[in-house]
Parts: sequence; structure tokens; C-alpha cells
Amino acid sequence: MAAGRPLTIGRSLPAVSLVGGVVADSPLLTEPDVDAVAVPVAPAVAGDEDEGPQPRRGAASTAARYGIDLAELAERAGLSGAAGEASVVQLPRPAGSGVTLPWAGLPPRIVLVGIGASTDTDLRRAGAALARATRGLRRVVTTIGDDAGYSASQAARAARALVEGYLLAAYVPISLARTPSVKPSADLVLLGRDGTRAGAAVDAARTAASATWLVRELASTPSSIKNPAWLADQARRLATEAGLQVTVRGPRELAAEGFGGILAVGSGSASPPRLVTVSYTPPTFAADGKHVVLVGKGITYDTGGLSIKPREAMVPMKTDMAGAAVALATVLGAAKAGVLHKVTAVLPLAENHFGAASYRPGDVLTMFGGTTVEIANTDAEGRLVLADALAWADAELDPDVLVDVATLTGAATVGLGRQYAALYGTDDALVAALERAGAESGERAWPMPLVGEYEGAARSSVADLRHVPEDGKTGAGSVTAALFLRRFAGERAWAHLDIAGTARATADKHEVTEGATGYGARLLLRYLTDLR
Ligand code: BES
Ligand code: MN
Ligand code: ZN
Repeated sequence: MAAGRPLTIGRSLPAVSLVGGVVADSPLLTEPDVDAVAVPVAPAVAGDEDEGPQPRRGAASTAARYGIDLAELAERAGLSGAAGEASVVQLPRPAGSGVTLPWAGLPPRIVLVGIGASTDTDLRRAGAALARATRGLRRVVTTIGDDAGYSASQAARAARALVEGYLLAAYVPISLARTPSVKPSADLVLLGRDGTRAGAAVDAARTAASATWLVRELASTPSSIKNPAWLADQARRLATEAGLQVTVRGPRELAAEGFGGILAVGSGSASPPRLVTVSYTPPTFAADGKHVVLVGKGITYDTGGLSIKPREAMVPMKTDMAGAAVALATVLGAAKAGVLHKVTAVLPLAENHFGAASYRPGDVLTMFGGTTVEIANTDAEGRLVLADALAWADAELDPDVLVDVATLTGAATVGLGRQYAALYGTDDALVAALERAGAESGERAWPMPLVGEYEGAARSSVADLRHVPEDGKTGAGSVTAALFLRRFAGERAWAHLDIAGTARATADKHEVTEGATGYGARLLLRYLTDLR
């Protein structure tokens, strides 16, 4: 496909609605487009394992309405009640008109879904399992996430987790969405829940999941379409539609203002770089409101440049702009959620290419603000575009909090794998808040040390800084990258998320989908909505 060809970014998620009432007499169950009823199953209570998996809220009345022993059915389906299990029971239709089955007129499927201990994580997994089990159906009614003993806030939390998991796993890559065999997940109806609290919880789940969908869509768009100009156009269109302020700088402006890092990284490519800002100001900005600036690495393709990557390592590098997509999706989500703080996304966008005008190892760059940097390896391009963006944000935006998010180092994956991002920061409260937001959203981050002793590795005899340590001398590649970035964040409360490991997944698992995961947007949205 030709570069710049339009592609629809921003597809719609399955609908989710709330309806009061109970299974026993809900008229919903006889509506013709309701294809399934999903009920929760929990593990046997400890000490009572003979009992087998336990159908929960709504299951008893479903059993009664259908005339089926659901506990026995769950056991026969091999369920233990663990979160992530789902079993679709297809109910037979009668043969001939003389037979009346007890479930005549009711939805012809019962979905048994494991809910584990009903933690947020468990309910996200239950929602994800339900979404995967109900592809191709029209509407599914469920009591999952409801519990007689819940307070209003517990009920809202549970509904949010369930719906978030459901919508996240309902995602299908654009390329597959066009194949007829891949069916979208059903629309979801939460039975027994209504009222404003539950409604707000569903809205929050939808906003968060939409943000993740957007990151996944942008990150999985091939780089034959996605160059810096294309990504800047997407940002401009989405931000304008949301009523946010956008600025886009092209190569001329970048040169005039001294963005030496972004320009050098983009110099080898036929598609020149951009610097995009998208800002959201809340309708009523309180005196104690904060300004949070999110900087996202936006390398639309990373060949490594002249320090070219090995063949296999280059293949996934269309996703090297995931950080920029996260920053963009977060500011859009913050606007939708009505966050009380000012939020600005700063997106340095460039292609790191091998070309006649490529920057070289041994070059000395002058970054925004005047710091000079000796280049050692052109594949460490992320820290250069981020350095310019951080220094500019520090100088021009007066942020209270400065957070960058980047697929920065393979070393982060070596250290933490694909389940935890590496989290660094200069402010303990900020790091703690981001770690908490990660734990609550299920996008986990692990605090890492900014080891002072390693800073010597950034000494250069020809410039203020050397941009990567000498090969094999220091190790700790994710730490030394973070130390480099810190030099450009001024005195701000700054944090850095290295998402090289978490931005991609090799297989579908719970709410995570194969390929670009969208990791980071839900974490940052949580952080912003919880920020006081
Ligand atoms: N985009 C890569 C990091 C990366 C690697 C992300 C694998 C996702 C999966 C980054 O630009 C890079 O190439 N980093 C180098 C840094 C090194 C040259 C100091 C790396 O990690 O090898
Ligand atoms: Mn690189
Ligand atoms: Zn990169």
C-alpha cells in the first residue's frame, strides 16, 4: 500500500448496556437477539472440594428458569471456576412440534465463566474469556460481576473490571476484521445493575479500552502507511475531533528551533520527522490542578540506521512508535473522562533509516537546549528524540509532572520480560502513584534504580554526553538509557516507562491480544484520574 493512504483508525467497540432486574423474570431473556446467558462459576470453597465448582450470582435462577443443574454441568464441562475459563453450552432445539423443552423461548446458549476470587484481575480475565467465547453472537446477557454482598462501590469496581476485560479481548486487528471468518464479539448486557454509579463504571471501562484499541491500531499499522506525516495527521484529526489543541512542527520548524536529536534520527529517511503536541485543558481548571506532560517515543520504523539491526530484530519495529500512540490515546482518554488536570502529549515522530543522509556513529549532535551528544550507535535513536522532546517540554510547557513512555531498550525485556514495564523516576510519590496505577489497571510496572555509579558511562571527550555506554562495560542497558533521559528533564518530577517488553505480545492471553498490546494507556489514564 502506498504511504499516506487513508486507513480507518478508531473502530467502534461492542455496545455495553445496563439493565435492572433478575434472571428469574427478566423479559430480556425472551428477546430474539439475545443469543446467550452467561453466568459466573467460582472455585469450590477450600475444605469443601467435593462440592466442585460453584455457580454464583444469577446461576441459581438461570438454572431454575432453564430447568438445568448448572453445578453439575460446570463439573462435566471440566471447569474449576478459575478466572479465564469459559465453556459455551449449546442447548438443543426440539425435534418436531410435539416436544417442549424447558428452555423453549430462552437464549439457546449458556456460557459458564470462571471468576476465581472475583478480584479486579479475575474479573478482567472473566470478561476477556466471555468476549472470546461469544464471537459471532449478537447480544449476551450476564450476571457476572454482581454479588448480593457488594456495596455500591464494590459493584461499580466489579462492573468496570468485567467490562474492561470484555472490551479489551473483543479487539480484532484491522487486517483480520476484514476476514469473514473472524467475528466480532457480541454486545453485552449487564443484568441486575443500573444506576449512575454502574453507568459511570461502564463509561470508564469503555474510555480505557478505547484508548488501548487506538494504541493497538496505530501500532499495528504497517510502516508502508505509517510514516511521521501520517501519524501526525492521525493525531491532528483525532485531537481536533475531540476539541483539543494540536500543533505540528515539520523539519523546517524543527531546524529553526534547534531540535538536533529528532532531525538527526530522521535524516536517513525519505519521510521527514514531525513534532506533535496535543493538549487538553479541563473546562474548570482548579487552582491546585496540575499540568502533566506525556512524552512518547514515536519511531515509525526502526531499522537501527547505519548501526543496522539484524534481519530478525527489525521485523517488529513498526511498533516502535507505541509510546507516542500511548501518549496520544491517553490525552484523548483524559478529555473523554473529564480529568481535572491539564494534560499535554508531546510526540517526537521520526523514521530511523539507513540512507545517504543518515547520522553516523562519531557524529556530535546539539540537542534542543544546547547539550551536545556524541553518537555511539545509531540504533539508540529513541533516547535522542525523547531528549529533545523532554528538554523542550521542560523549557516551554512548565509541567508539574513529566512522564515519558518508550519502547526504549531490549534490556528492559531481558530484565523483566513481557509482563512488567521498567519504571524509573526522580520523585518517589510519582513513581509510587504510577506503580499503583499499573497494579490497578493490570498494566504492571516495576520500579528500577537510577544507579548513580553508572553515570560515568555517559562521559565523552568530545561532547557533554556520550549517548550509549561502551559495549559490554556497564551493562544495565535500560538503566543507562533512563540516566541519559534524566539529564534532559531538568528539575521536574520526571518518570520514565520502558515498555519495550510489554508493548508487544506473542499470543492472546486474557485481556492482552497478540501483536501490539496497547500497554500503557490504561495505566496513565488511571494515574490521571486518581491524581489529586
Ligand atoms: N526500539 C529499540 C528497542 C526495542 C528492542 C524495542 C526490541 C522492542 C523490542 C531501540 O531503539 C533499540 O534499538 N535499542 C537498542 C539500544 C542499544 C543500541 C544501546 C537495544 O536495546 O539494543
Ligand atoms: Mn533502535
Ligand atoms: Zn527504537
